[in-house]
Amino acid sequence: MHFEKELKGWGNRQENKPIWVVAPGRINLIGEHTDYNNGFVLPAAIDKSVFFLVQLRDDKNCNIEAKDIDAHLSFSIEDDLKPSLNNWENYFLGVLHFLKKKGNIKQGFNVIFESNIPIGAGMSSSAALSCGFGMALNEAFSLSLKKTQIAEIAQLAEHHFVGVKCGIMDQYACMFGIENHALKLDCRTLKYQPQEIKLGEYKLVLIDSKVKHELTSTEYNKRREECDRAVSILKNYDESIKTLRDVTQNHILNFGKHLDRVAYMRCKYVIMENERVERASQALISNNLKLFGKLLDQSHKGLADYFEVSCDELNFLVNVSKESGQVLGSRMMGGGFGGCTINIIEGSNCSVIVSTILNSYKKKFGINAQSYFVEIKDGCKVLDYN
Ligand code: GLA
Repeated sequence: MHFEKELKGWGNRQENKPIWVVAPGRINLIGEHTDYNNGFVLPAAIDKSVFFLVQLRDDKNCNIEAKDIDAHLSFSIEDDLKPSLNNWENYFLGVLHFLKKKGNIKQGFNVIFESNIPIGAGMSSSAALSCGFGMALNEAFSLSLKKTQIAEIAQLAEHHFVGVKCGIMDQYACMFGIENHALKLDCRTLKYQPQEIKLGEYKLVLIDSKVKHELTSTEYNKRREECDRAVSILKNYDESIKTLRDVTQNHILNFGKHLDRVAYMRCKYVIMENERVERASQALISNNLKLFGKLLDQSHKGLADYFEVSCDELNFLVNVSKESGQVLGSRMMGGGFGGCTINIIEGSNCSVIVSTILNSYKKKFGINAQSYFVEIKDGCKVLDYN
């Protein structure tokens, strides 16, 4: 991506050197809806990113230009920032709002950004927007914030400006991603272990269902509440339970009868999904891709039947993949109710398998799904602009 035209317009003053930041989207191999339950996840940054160019100004004006959608946002750095009705603006307003609490931000700036992360596909273009913008301002204003602090600010922006009570997985994958590695992240301690992804002749393929059911963020926030409800009931029987991460199969055996149906199912899913992340991570270490694939399949079943965040389109894509016999594992990825499936597909015949899946999907739903062959890349970076 190049912003030569804009750069000329901005002038090239030495003291206001433009800053160039690239922030990737992410995949999640396994560990879905476990992050906000303080559990484990296994995400990775990918080769699709948002690109930002940021330059400080000598006045108080802030201009943000979204090149892809030809939209523009202007305000003064002294404004009291509030959420906007234009959703994309909230990532910027939110990040700036929380950054202003951390550092000395008194000057205006110009930002221009564009992205090749498909929107609404579940590759977390939103975390890329907020983390990348946070990183760019951190650099431009020499705030010296740690990456962990920027990730937390990005999450706060989502909670309070965008209105989604997301976990921390997407922001960590975007900030800390490592080429050819997934991050086994413990969402309680926020410590992660990089895990090399060696797929041999297999390929990682995302299939975007191209549907995004309306209730996505409402249902997401509802799942969080349901998990919290389960915790508030179970901690009456064992006060060491602080989050669903602390709940074991034994707790369910002994105290499950006190839970309502929904809380019970959410608990079961989270316990099993956390166990699957551990087993999947071991399977990767021992190069047991078959087992890894099986765990992906089980994860999908859990998400569909126990956590109830899948939909007909995603279930269909997963089933058709499995019918091919050449897909090691397939599951919905991300928050759910649409977006992508993630698949591990035999490499030599990959294109044929993918087009069969796309054709069946088109026949069933009349929708052109889209496939993406993804590579695992580094996380968010400030680049030299040449
Ligand atoms: C979204 C959220 C994440 C995570 C996933 C589900 O991507 O942003 O924090 O909860 O859904 O695993």
